[in-house]
Amino acid sequence: MKNFLPGPTQVREDVLAEFSKPVIGHHTSAFKELLGRINPRLQKLMDTDDPVFTLTCSASAAMEAALTNAGGSRILILANGAFGERWLTAARALDLPADALVVAWGLPLPEFEIGRLLDKTNCDTIVIVHGESSTGMLNPIEPVKSALSHRPDVLFIVDAVATSGGVQLSMNQDKIDVLVGASQKCLGLPPGVVPVGVSQRALARSRSARRKGYAFDFSLWHERWKEKATLATPAIPQLYALDYQLERIEKETLKARWQRHQRMLEITCAWASENGMIPFAPDGYRLPSVSCLRPSDGRQTGKVVQAMEQRGYYIGNGYGKLKNRAIRIGHMGDWSEKELEEMLTVLSEVLTERA
Ligand SMILES: Cc1ncc(COP(=O)(O)O)c(C=O)c1O
Repeated sequence: MKNFLPGPTQVREDVLAEFSKPVIGHHTSAFKELLGRINPRLQKLMDTDDPVFTLTCSASAAMEAALTNAGGSRILILANGAFGERWLTAARALDLPADALVVAWGLPLPEFEIGRLLDKTNCDTIVIVHGESSTGMLNPIEPVKSALSHRPDVLFIVDAVATSGGVQLSMNQDKIDVLVGASQKCLGLPPGVVPVGVSQRALARSRSARRKGYAFDFSLWHERWKEKATLATPAIPQLYALDYQLERIEKETLKARWQRHQRMLEITCAWASENGMIPFAPDGYRLPSVSCLRPSDGRQTGKVVQAMEQRGYYIGNGYGKLKNRAIRIGHMGDWSEKELEEMLTVLSEVLTERA
């Protein structure tokens, strides 16, 4: 099967082979060497001099860790899709004080509201989902960065689960305090390891945070990170694969990887306009890693997804309330433009057959 899901994405055979290496102890010198290679490469990936932890868990668990460690006294969550709403659900489930700017799925976040809401709610943390994979939307970082330029006490958390490694993003330049990445999207790895970049300001917050638990305590992680170690036994095979993939990415170069993702978005949008499919996200806000497309004839998409599966391809159905009203295509990780075009040719055939 060829996997064009919006996540987890296809994993190359040579990357999968890393999982069959012998399991080593996490207190050995070989493990220190492994993290010694991974840590600086992740710092480069996120463009930061601050630590990037390798949490081995789901991204949702890492999102909760970001909130409990760096959430401060009140969190403002910007939501225009399912994952923005998940941040709010997580904050509420953790009983953390939170406000939200919730707009309809697929609409750009109203930039002028951000600063106004920060002042009105007195929030000292803000969360944005950079790549909203439920709607195929890229939320620009700039409006939040500019709102924070004269609000120095507000910490900036970015959900880069669907963008890290595939779309340009810089902790240094964008003044990000916690960047939550993921393995199963643009990095082209199986799910299970979440690189989380944490600024010095976020670490300072973590030190005084009271309800952050133990396993995800960023201040304890920081102590271990300095020694090229982890806080608890990590998913070691995941780290082998991460090490291998980071080296491959370094050879491709990050810039080339971002450009390849952007070209795959352009190919998908051009195909959509020739095949009666409408991108859910407006022009200028489309996500280079995941497209969400609605059929212009209003047909149900479940059958299209099924027919693609019979032809050997996984694509995604619409997420949540878009189920059966849209398809989602993950054009990320290690897919090439040519392989994407091959899949889209099959998808054209399926759409014509089922018209
Ligand atoms: C933007 C975004 N945030 C968060 C998540 C949650 O990731 P996980 O399923 O690993 O918890 C996803 C998963 O698809 C996502 O796309």
